[in-house]
Amino acid sequence: MAHDRIDTDPATARRLWNDAADAYHHFVETGLDYYRTDLHGPALLDACGDVRERRVLDLGCGQGWFTRQLAAAGAQVTGVDWSHGLIEHARAIEEARHFRAGELAGGVTYDVLDAADIATHFAPDTFDLVTACMSLMDMPSPGAVLAAAARLAPRIVFSIPSPVTDAPHRVWKRDASGTKLALEIDRYFDATTTVMQWNMKRLVHHFATVQYRYTLEQWSRMIEDAGLVIARLREPRPSEAAIAKRPELADAARLPYFLIVDACRSRAA
Ligand SMILES: C[S@@+](CC[C@H](N)C(=O)[O-])C[C@H]1O[C@@H](n2cnc3c(N)ncnc32)[C@H](O)[C@@H]1O
Repeated sequence: MAHDRIDTDPATARRLWNDAADAYHHFVETGLDYYRTDLHGPALLDACGDVRERRVLDLGCGQGWFTRQLAAAGAQVTGVDWSHGLIEHARAIEEARHFRAGELAGGVTYDVLDAADIATHFAPDTFDLVTACMSLMDMPSPGAVLAAAARLAPRIVFSIPSPVTDAPHRVWKRDASGTKLALEIDRYFDATTTVMQWNMKRLVHHFATVQYRYTLEQWSRMIEDAGLVIARLREPRPSEAAIAKRPELADAARLPYFLIVDACRSRAA
């Protein structure tokens, strides 16, 4: 994954996600995103705890991979995303799922919605839990979205790339045989807006999206300003079984690649 340092506005960010809808859908739904299927996805679901019969809002749901995980665990889920293309994929998957099960569609509800508008779209306390699977860092104003989420539910659980290792300068140093020696990281404090090129070898279709990068301190400040307190942080690591199945995951046992934040409304809020 390469990062180009190009500033872009929210309209461009939304357009890029719409343009990427088919490619992203293919990437995730064909299992090529093994960091998700075998690492951060299960860890995020585990962090949510028992969601049976809980009303959950999944922010930046894309084509609904995590939304369906929540539904399968028994939650009543609404998924929202600002990309029409991704929500079309989400609805198509949902219809096919229910068609196969011989039921009417309706297990998950999807809306095309900018997460910046959730507070005007949903009444306060509509949900028990708000989730965001690898999406808040793709939103132009994650602090405002967190504040809005805090009005809709008493708890938010979200995953992001670890700010520690997802630095603007990030290069694996290798020996002559190509073995990874150490990850060189620099410019941690550059809170940049970047166009991320999804051009990894395993991707069949390449695409580009905008990512807004923040430091740990900035995330913590956004959470605090939203009237939330951090209940728990998790840095998921692959199990030995996961590494045996997917040797590529071994790097994530050396360094934190993802951060999961479990935050609740503070008493003062
Ligand atoms: C990396 S994808 C993750 C999608 C999905 N949660 C998943 O796990 O596959 C980031 C998602 O955030 C969505 N997104 C970014 N900014 C948004 C916003 N302001 N409102 C709603 N969705 C947004 C994008 O359209 C994209 O679907």
